[in-house]
Amino acid sequence: MTRLPTAQKARPCSEKLWLSAPSAFLGALNFLTTVDPAIETSVTMEPNDPYSYHLPYEQYANNNVDHYIVNAGYQDDQVDYELSRPHRPDTVTRQSQAAFGRARLSLPPPAPVPIEFNDYLGYNYASTPSDDYTRAYLENQSEDIRPSIQAVHALAPTESRPYQHIFRRQESSSSPINAVPSSPTYQASQRQQNPEASMPIRSYAFPTAQQRKPEIDRGPPTVQGIQLVPVHTLPDRFRTIFPFAMFNAVQSACFQSIYESDDNCVFSSPTGSGKTVLFEIAICRMLRGWTNGTFKVVYMAPTKSLCSERARDWKAKFGPLNLKCEEMTGDSDITSLHHVQRADIIVTTPEKWDSMTRKWKDHEKLVRLIKLLLIDEVHILNKDRGAALEVVVSRMKSVGAGTRFVALSATVPNSQDIATWLGRNDDTPNVPATHKRFGEEFRPVELTRYVCGYQSNANAFGFDTVLTKKLSDVVVKYSQKKPIMVFCFTRKSCSEAAKFLAEWWKHSAPKNRYWHAPTRQIRVEDKGLQSTVSAGVAVHHAGLGLDDRGAVESAYLAGELSVICCTSTLAVGVNLPCHMVIIKNTVSYEAGAIKEYSDLEIMQMIGRAGRPQFDTSALAVIMTKMQQVKHYEQLLSGQERLESCLHLNLVEHLNAAIGLGMVPDLCAAKKWLAGTFLRVRLEDNPTHYQIKGDTPDRDLGARLEQICDSAISQLQELGMKASTRKPATVN
Ligand SMILES: Nc1ncnc2c1ncn2[C@@H]1O[C@H](COP(=O)(O)OP(=O)(O)OP(=O)(O)O)[C@@H](O)[C@H]1O
Ligand SMILES: [Mg+2]
Repeated sequence: MTRLPTAQKARPCSEKLWLSAPSAFLGALNFLTTVDPAIETSVTMEPNDPYSYHLPYEQYANNNVDHYIVNAGYQDDQVDYELSRPHRPDTVTRQSQAAFGRARLSLPPPAPVPIEFNDYLGYNYASTPSDDYTRAYLENQSEDIRPSIQAVHALAPTESRPYQHIFRRQESSSSPINAVPSSPTYQASQRQQNPEASMPIRSYAFPTAQQRKPEIDRGPPTVQGIQLVPVHTLPDRFRTIFPFAMFNAVQSACFQSIYESDDNCVFSSPTGSGKTVLFEIAICRMLRGWTNGTFKVVYMAPTKSLCSERARDWKAKFGPLNLKCEEMTGDSDITSLHHVQRADIIVTTPEKWDSMTRKWKDHEKLVRLIKLLLIDEVHILNKDRGAALEVVVSRMKSVGAGTRFVALSATVPNSQDIATWLGRNDDTPNVPATHKRFGEEFRPVELTRYVCGYQSNANAFGFDTVLTKKLSDVVVKYSQKKPIMVFCFTRKSCSEAAKFLAEWWKHSAPKNRYWHAPTRQIRVEDKGLQSTVSAGVAVHHAGLGLDDRGAVESAYLAGELSVICCTSTLAVGVNLPCHMVIIKNTVSYEAGAIKEYSDLEIMQMIGRAGRPQFDTSALAVIMTKMQQVKHYEQLLSGQERLESCLHLNLVEHLNAAIGLGMVPDLCAAKKWLAGTFLRVRLEDNPTHYQIKGDTPDRDLGARLEQICDSAISQLQELGMKASTRKPATVN
């Protein structure tokens, strides 16, 4: 009989779902939907996804665990088999959930710690399947290299040797307090206390490379039908970039395309599935293959927060490889612009890179050095700001400097269109880039979703005030006393929410509080922020100074702050230890207009809950109007098609292209437009776009010409670029 994982049994609302959809358990497991009050919805997986996973959980978990044990010896470095083994927990602890989470999400157990042989002597030895494996393995060795079987039995485990010791050693790698001394004196005393452990284990504990060969033949573990790629496939110098032993299933499936080829790539997978690693592999590929002098890498992401996080991380990771990483966003000053010119990896936003490459003539030399352009969160193409991304990428494509494009997106149904847009490379632009898409079953952290509907006739602002006052109820009902993020639709709404929650916390009796006070003073400049941080609550939005934003992020990471009330500045990409996301109000307020969030925006916010390095389960509560409950109850990731937004500011962007000298005449304008994502979508969804001068029923070539003709006429009417020639005929 299929055994449910313990963490699941604790959730009555999910059990029915499990039993009713055993074959789709992973999609369901990862994406349980519960409507408040307790309405259940079934969740379906993508039917034709080649990566769909259909094994019963038990079999799946066993496969994972055992495969990993069997292959622990696959490492080149000496590996403690015990340390690399995920334990099978039977209690609901955070550690046990983490172990199950790892197995489920296709991540391997924590990176094995290569230890010195002598270190090992200080440990008691526990009974595990790997003993059996070791024994079976040894018994299969040829006589000449086979170590003493007697020695193996002498070290056979006994009941009195608990796991405790094994995990103590694991802790020791990061916590000096728990570290087990490896001095000869300490080890001698241990041997005295436990003479068995002093038996000649040298001969079996770490088989030589030759002895390990049979394990290599069995290959690395297979997860969700994908054989995992060990990090040690990469040359030694790159391994420190990846703080784990195995690439996960998504990364392994993409490894060949990204590391063994220079073609453009587009990968689409759920939040938290480890996409950033794909960029890092692409940089390794660049470093490995580039012999023609200097090159630069540009990483583009939609928010400053994400850029800061990436720059911080990559400075530390690539610094030792002599790659200088610099951030260039709206927050950068002139001095850092100077640094950027000397940087090897430039981390920037589409808007900033747009304004930089608009001065193309000044920066031509620099732009031609860009050999790798990494586009994170490429699905923002369908937001108003997406036009800047679309234009800047199209511009980089047209430079023809042999730049490789790697674009990553959340799961969207038509990510293939992005591949069509980017093309495979400069030589074959009409062949789509390499493309892979992974469904929701690859979302690593189990997410339980609640939708709370509220009745109100007030406008969006009035309704938001109502919701602010309901926040404490939501926290009481759903919070597991772990860090929270509250997404709010305006900066003012953030401040109100933070103020409300801080007051509520201050007026609650200490034993009834849902989070603890900071243990140290958090230094911030903003007055409003100062008044709430002492209660463990903060705001985060673009209106805050750079230092305050940084202070809030670090304090939240450090566990000093427990609640962040933020706008969508933190909705994409960032890794914070948030367990529960509350979306307070499902509308956005942009350019004076109120509109319901897109499904993708909601998925991105929800995706901040339960990041795999911090958690194995997560909660999301969507607070919305009663009439929207059904919509959010049925919301699934990957349903919404990406459309272009370039048509909304087409004239302005065409004007910039003309100013850059890229578009001297109508023919060039048509070519420029043909290089955009808008062209790809116009072909696929002709009636979606209402563009002046366009007649959707004509063939694409004629439409593009008409659209350009009309845009240039508009520019001429405005007295701009009047010199743009309009040839009578266009080929
Ligand atoms: N192979 C791996 N083994 C262990 N942990 C991993 C692995 N790959 C990634 N991670 C962890 O997963 C976390 C989330 O990864 P990442 O931020 O790249 O996800 P993402 O897919 O980009 O998410 P989002 O769509 O929200 O941007 C990382 O911080 C990292 O700790
Ligand atoms: Mg990401």
